[in-house]
Amino acid sequence: MQELAWINGTVSELAAASIPLEDRGFFFGDGVYESIRIYNGKPFRLEDHLQRLRRSAAAIMLDLADLPKLEAAAPQLIKESGCPEAYLYIQLTRGVAPRSHLFPAGVKPTMVMYVRTLPPGFGEAAQNGVACITVPDERWLRCNIKTINLLPNVLAKEKARRAGAYEAIFYRPGGVVTEGSSTNVFAVCGGVIYTHPESNLILSGITRQVILELLPAAGLPFKEEAVSLEQLRRAEEIWISSSTAEIVPVISLDGKPVGDGKVGALAREVRQRYRAAVQDCCG
Ligand SMILES: Cc1ncc(COP(=O)(O)O)c(C=O)c1O
Repeated sequence: MQELAWINGTVSELAAASIPLEDRGFFFGDGVYESIRIYNGKPFRLEDHLQRLRRSAAAIMLDLADLPKLEAAAPQLIKESGCPEAYLYIQLTRGVAPRSHLFPAGVKPTMVMYVRTLPPGFGEAAQNGVACITVPDERWLRCNIKTINLLPNVLAKEKARRAGAYEAIFYRPGGVVTEGSSTNVFAVCGGVIYTHPESNLILSGITRQVILELLPAAGLPFKEEAVSLEQLRRAEEIWISSSTAEIVPVISLDGKPVGDGKVGALAREVRQRYRAAVQDCCG
C-alpha cells in the first residue's frame, strides 16, 4: 500500500511529488479539481466525476486535449497504490508560465492526481450528527464550476470550526439556502425532502445526484427546490452530503436543535441506502 502521485504522466510517491512555483494554480487558482472516494480499492462513481471534471475544465476554457491520458491512468494509479479506504484527488491547471493574467500561449495544462488514504473509521463520528452554522454566501455566480478558487469556502468552514460547528451552510441575499462550504444541503420540511436545484448557485454534487436517484426507489417524496433560511430553521431534519463525508445528519443549526435534536429517521434511511449503493459498486 503506497500513496502515489501522477503528474503529467510521471508516477512518484506522493510525499516526493512537487510542481513548479510558476504554476497558474498557485498564482491565480486558475484550475479545476475533483475528489473521488475509493472504497475497498475501487473508485465510487469515477465516470461521473470525470464527466464533471470535463464540464468544469471546458467552463474555464482549459485545453482538454491531453485529458484522456489522465482518465486512462486513473484506474491504474488507484490499483498500483493498493490503498483500500482512500480518495483520488485530481487537479488541472492552466500550466506553468511567467505570471500574467492573460492565458499563456502554447502552454499545456498541469495535470495532477494522487491517491491518499483515509484513516480507519474516517467520518464515523460525523454520522452521529453534527452542528452547523449559517453564513452569507459571498461566492461568485459560477459555483457550478468545481474550481480550485475556494477562499470564501475556506473562510466559511473556518468560521464554522471556530463556532464549534462542522460545516457552514450558505444563504444568498434574501435568504435562499444554497449549499455548504464543501457539501450539498438537504432539508425535510412537512415530510418532503428539499435540495437546491442544479444552477450556477451550487456545485451539483455527485453524492447529491446519487441521493436523488435513490429517493424514488425508497418512495420518499422530494423536490429539487430551494428552501429559505426560515424554512431551514423550521426543518424536521437536515443533512449534508459530499463524496468524502457521504451523508452527515445535522442535529443543530446556529446553536438550536434541528427537529428533536437527534439524527432523523429519513437521514438514517437515506444513509443506509447510500451505503448499499456503495457496496453494490465497490463491494
Ligand atoms: C461547494 C461544494 N458543494 C458540494 C460538494 C459535494 O460534491 P460531491 O458530492 O460531488 O463530493 C462539494 C464537494 O467538494 C463542494 O465543494
